[in-house]
Amino acid sequence: MRIKKFCFGTVINTEAVVLNVEESNKGEMPYLKIENENELTYELEKNDVIYGLGENVRGINKRGWIYESFCSDEFDHSEDRKSLYAAHNFLIIQGRETFGVFIDCTGKVIFDLGYTKKDSMSIKIPENNFNVYIINGNSLKEIAKNFRKLIGKSYIAPKWAFGYQQSRWGYKSKEDILNVVKGFKNNDIPIDGVCLDIDYMERFKDFTINKETYDDFENFVKDLKSQGVRLIPIIDAGVKIEKGYEVYEEGVEKGYFCVNENNEPFIAAVWPGKVHFPDFLNKDARAWFGRKYKYLTGKGIEGFWNDMNEPAIFYTEKSLKKALDKAYDSKDKNLDVYSFFDLKDSFLEIGNRLEDYESFYHSIDGKFIRHDKVHNLYGYNMTRSAAEAFQEIDSNKRFLIFSRASTIGAHRYGGIWTGDNKSWWSHLEMNIKMMPNLNLCGFLYSGADTVGFGCDCTEDLAIRWNEFSIFTPLYRNHSTKGTRNQEPYNFSQNTIETLRTIIENRYAFIPYIYSEYMKACKDDECYFKPMTFEYEDENLVEDQLLVGDSLMIAPVYKQNASGRYVYLPEEMLLWNMASYKDRSFKVLPKGHHYIDVELEATPIFIRKNKILVIGKHSNCVDNLNNEELDLIAFVDNKACYNYYDDDGITKKYDNQDFQFKISIQKKDNNYEIGVDALENCPVRKLNLTIIDNHGNEVKKKYSI
Ligand code: GLC
Repeated sequence: MRIKKFCFGTVINTEAVVLNVEESNKGEMPYLKIENENELTYELEKNDVIYGLGENVRGINKRGWIYESFCSDEFDHSEDRKSLYAAHNFLIIQGRETFGVFIDCTGKVIFDLGYTKKDSMSIKIPENNFNVYIINGNSLKEIAKNFRKLIGKSYIAPKWAFGYQQSRWGYKSKEDILNVVKGFKNNDIPIDGVCLDIDYMERFKDFTINKETYDDFENFVKDLKSQGVRLIPIIDAGVKIEKGYEVYEEGVEKGYFCVNENNEPFIAAVWPGKVHFPDFLNKDARAWFGRKYKYLTGKGIEGFWNDMNEPAIFYTEKSLKKALDKAYDSKDKNLDVYSFFDLKDSFLEIGNRLEDYESFYHSIDGKFIRHDKVHNLYGYNMTRSAAEAFQEIDSNKRFLIFSRASTIGAHRYGGIWTGDNKSWWSHLEMNIKMMPNLNLCGFLYSGADTVGFGCDCTEDLAIRWNEFSIFTPLYRNHSTKGTRNQEPYNFSQNTIETLRTIIENRYAFIPYIYSEYMKACKDDECYFKPMTFEYEDENLVEDQLLVGDSLMIAPVYKQNASGRYVYLPEEMLLWNMASYKDRSFKVLPKGHHYIDVELEATPIFIRKNKILVIGKHSNCVDNLNNEELDLIAFVDNKACYNYYDDDGITKKYDNQDFQFKISIQKKDNNYEIGVDALENCPVRKLNLTIIDNHGNEVKKKYSI
């Protein structure tokens, strides 16, 4: 393995890395220059590209901005931000020299990627304690793969989690949820999950259920499951301080909460008012909190989302007092500009303050460590707490878990969603560009809040965003209180029909999406890739992505656009798909094209000598019947495909690599088909549509 490790200072083991790499002498560090023992620099050439940093603002190429890895409760994802909820410290530099860099550490890292000086890269680690891994490989793909080997296998979600999920902060009761499900059923729109936001709890207390609004929860879960709909409750990091509340009482008694400098449980405020933070970095506390999930799994719950785990702080007693004092002082005064701004800022800056992160402590292997120094490990270990508990609850079952905050390492325990975006076209664009970088950092089960969390969406944005989300493993429509309702059935009739078709398309594509996702997880590959990962001599096109091995997509993300430009690095087969049932294909030569894309259409490109596998939609994943599959092959010479599927719920995937392999070889004017299938392969029939580079179509059937 071509990975080198260099150590600076004493690093708390983040457990991000699973391979044992021997330390090399710092004097031998390739590519990067070490300055002041805590900064690494590199001179960039004009055309060098920098991939990585997972969840962050801006493009696939991170060059030209300064980023800070410090998990932040950042609901404003505008271009001038430096951090979002995650800290993903992996980069690949491609150009004069091509290599990967991973900064393994627990605190803040500043990536100045051509911001201060446009041709210089600097990585600064203010804490001084960090390990650097330099990852080599013969191609971008190989570097990415070597990195994934270093950090261990990505989390694998259950197959039902590839179905559509509906969410909204504002569903308050069983009736609200039933109305949502009814909205889908009455309109024949497939759905697999409804997320429960904070209002399902009793006064925002983790592992409680508001009995007034959700009576007989267990039967409710059961009934919905029998209709193919799973409930996915939220769990928040802060535990309400309330006498008699079991989680609070136990946590205090056992010393499982983070403490202040006087060794008393640290107090912050989030949804329920005052809370304590479980010390997820203390392994006993982590196991204790994890076991609490049993309260809900015991009621039939199979999936969760972990939130506010940067951790987010609305205020502390100190910050609130400071702001209020300022307000009292300002009373009856004539405030000039600066004193008014000062007053306003004292409230605007009341939460998520560094000063507060500097005032509580974790107990890690018996040592007290100040939070800010290990800040980026918090969300990661909350996810881990859940995942380790699931393993204990049922070691052979896959549970769904996705988190807001994360660091590399967390990718082994759960997926992520990308936090509070907005119903903006620019955030759809950001979602598209973020996906390949998330994959590079190991987060394959991921996605954004489809249609946008904040702000009112328009019908056309809802359509375009859903068209992109067809391809994201996590496909969840989520929005906040007070915004326009954006459930697909809440639009005008023809938009409902369009959205239904788009969601049906997603379900029909699950055989391909799941097969590609599972192979990517098992083989340490990326499911979403920038085009340059397969076509290395080409320039990076930021708004076209490879999805799995066979497809390239070019989503439309501009309002009122009736089409878009695409660049094809080779001849490809275009399917401008409205419904998966209507198939018409066009061969497009290598080069630049303008393609018309109706609002209702999703342009999909099948790569040369590649095969797309699709099935038929159903009302939910459990009801998909994929005994018969359609294969669309674009064959110039020979195309092969390894189709992977499994039961979707157990962990038997470790012993299986494919269900069938197919090869389609052009021979004179015909095609030779070779199929190698598992003895008990559940797929019985293959309907092949084979298209050659002149656009000639041949149909064949194959029984397994
Ligand atoms: C946070 C989450 C959001 C959720 C809200 C209420 O803002 O990011 O998804 O709806 O909290 O729980």
